[in-house]
Formats: sequence, structure tokens, C-alpha cells
Amino acid sequence: MVRVPLAEVELNVLDQGCGTPLLLVHGFPLDHTMWSGQVDALADVCRVIAPDLRGFGTSGVSAGTVTMERLADDLAELLDALGIVERVALCGLSMGGYVAWQFWRRHRSRLAKLILCDTRAAADAPETAQVRRDSAERVLNEGPGFLADGMIEKLFAPKTGLAPNIHDSVPVALSKDAREHRAEIIEATRQTILNTSPVGIAAALRGMAQRADVTGLLPDIDVPTLVVCGQYDAISTVDEMRNIAARIPAARFVEVPDAGHMAPLENPAVVNEAIRSFLEATST
Ligand code: MLT
Repeated sequence: MVRVPLAEVELNVLDQGCGTPLLLVHGFPLDHTMWSGQVDALADVCRVIAPDLRGFGTSGVSAGTVTMERLADDLAELLDALGIVERVALCGLSMGGYVAWQFWRRHRSRLAKLILCDTRAAADAPETAQVRRDSAERVLNEGPGFLADGMIEKLFAPKTGLAPNIHDSVPVALSKDAREHRAEIIEATRQTILNTSPVGIAAALRGMAQRADVTGLLPDIDVPTLVVCGQYDAISTVDEMRNIAARIPAARFVEVPDAGHMAPLENPAVVNEAIRSFLEATST
């Protein structure tokens, strides 16, 4: 890991491998460790750069509101700081996808390819935005425990829903290794949320609440694009993501079996194969 100072904050960044840069942008309220199933598998074909975004992991934190635009600008600053001038592939999951849309809007000359995992193009409905603003206040008062409890069930495919007894809800058909893997990734995700700065979480919640609807932008995206969605994603559904892919002229769509919103973590083999073959097929 390296510490990379930007103008306002310092970012904690994983930088591994060489070749075309692949920027992995995590979801909310997580950090670079959600890409643990991708880093080694992709670092032999590209330079994998996985930052903790501002406010997350061990990166610096800003209070108030951190917009998706601000996070996209941080990524451009990060590329400058790392001396990367070539165009990058950017892969964002969920909130990382919201950041990817803004990176496309604001820094498109730096972008070679887009990979959108389990994300949305639509803005929040007014009531959803209000829930986010209320949650921002609550997390500042109480800490992230309630968020961890509420989110875990939504993030993972139903068969990975673990509370209260981790093994009861897992189908017998899963091997012992698979059960243990699922238990590990869910517990690791819970710990990540619990360890995240309440100030960072609140700032991103406010930023997501005010993010723009980018649906109208999709037909203009003219870089090769891969859209990936977990079969059981309850937050950004397969239908919604298929529609996103259908609106982007050069997009391909991959549905990831046995996975929910955290498809790269839940089914890394399928996601890695999709990313590797996309990168290979679109290399010039
Ligand atoms: C995420 O995984 O980043 C979140 O589900 C995004 C959101 O809350 O909209």
C-alpha cells in the first residue's frame, strides 16, 4: 500500500502489477479490500490501482458533503500523483459506479474503458435522498453499527444472508469451503463498515443523496464498456443494469450467478473472467 497526498487529503492506495492501469473504485461504505478477489487475478494482466476513497478505509476524511464529482476529481488527482498519463480502465462498484459516471463526464480524455458493477444511473427518489440525509445525522450520533446491520442483508445474495446464524441460511449444496468463504467475506465486510469513519460515511451519504440522474448520458458513452451484475442484486437489479447496458452503444452485459450486490467478492471467478476477457477483447 502507498500513501498518496492529494491537494486536500491523503489517499491509501493499493498499486500492484504493471501494464494498462485498471482503477478499482469501491462501493459504500467500504474500502479497497472489497477487491481482494480481483487484485492478484488481474495484476498479471494490468496495473491494478485500488484506492480507499476520501472518507473511507484509512484515507483522509472530509466533513460536510462529499459529492461524486469530488470523488471523481480525487481519482484524476491520484493519477496525476502516480504519474499516469495513459488512458485507464475504470471499474466501479455501486457508489464506485456513481463516481465512474462523473469521471466519464469530467475526465473522459483519461478514460479508455469502463466497467460498471452493480450500480445505478438513476438519481435517488426524494424519499430515498431524505433517508440518506437522516442516516448521515444518525451515523454521526451513533456510529456505523446500525448501517452495518442494515446493509449486510442487502449486499449479499440471499443464500449468503447470515444473521443470526451464519451457517443455517446457507444451502446444504454449498461445499464446506464455499460456506467458509461466504462467512469470511460477510464478516470482513461487516468489520470494514464498523471501522469506517462516521464523518466520512455521513459526507458520502449526503453526496449520494444529491447525485444527478445520468441516464441521459448513457448513449454518449463511447468507450468500450462492460456492465456486470450479480444475479440476486437487490439494490441494482439485473433488469435495471441490463437497461443501462442497452443504452450504452459499446457495452456488453454479464450476469454473475450465485451473487448479489457484492458480485466481485461473492463470485470472483466469474467476475475476473468477465473482466479479463473484456480487457483482452478491447485491447488495441
Ligand atoms: C454501494 O454499494 O455503494 C451502495 O449500495 C450505494 C448506494 O447506497 O446507493
